Amino acid sequence: MNRRTMIIGAVMVLGMLTVLALYIPGIRPEPMQVRAVEGEAAIGGPFNLIDQNGAAVSDLDFRGKYMLVFFGFTHCPDVCPLTLRMIADAYAIGGPMLENVVPIFISVDPERDTPEIMGEYVMNFDPRIVALTGSADAIKQAANGYRVFYRRAAKAEGDTGDDYMMEHSGYVYFMGPDGRYITHFSPKTTAQELAARVRQETSYTNR
Ligand code: NI
Repeated sequence: MNRRTMIIGAVMVLGMLTVLALYIPGIRPEPMQVRAVEGEAAIGGPFNLIDQNGAAVSDLDFRGKYMLVFFGFTHCPDVCPLTLRMIADAYAIGGPMLENVVPIFISVDPERDTPEIMGEYVMNFDPRIVALTGSADAIKQAANGYRVFYRRAAKAEGDTGDDYMMEHSGYVYFMGPDGRYITHFSPKTTAQELAARVRQETSYTNR
């Protein structure tokens, strides 16, 4: 091996190590590590919305409690009902360990999702779910804080009806008693997995 080959080899190895160093910590960040890193993952933030009883509710009302925050809409045919069912099942599994955890469903479709409709909708799953809606601006502020994407879907060709769909991110955000992000769950998470993870986290404070 000549000198030139050795240098090229060394540069390639360094390059691969750099790529590995960039990607390995991102594969499965441990929630406790995520919390420990300053300024990491600024997911969450203030919201000022209306609950199913017509009361003004802000994020500050939930300080001291954990939150499971999920954005969606009541006309959703699949992801929203499945996720709310999964959350309700997790509460059935988790029992008293989940008493200090508030499930919060925030509409991305305030045009149709009035507080009354939101209230009726969550009763299909679990009456403990706090259902929030509000002005378009208030929803936008809440969604931006959680980095949630949503928009009204384009109509399919030949679709002349008034009905419309909303596209939206489907993650469930698990937030701590201080309002800080702990972790999030994908729509594929099972009720058992969610209950186990939440119990693991809340057992520190419930002990
Ligand atoms: Ni949905």
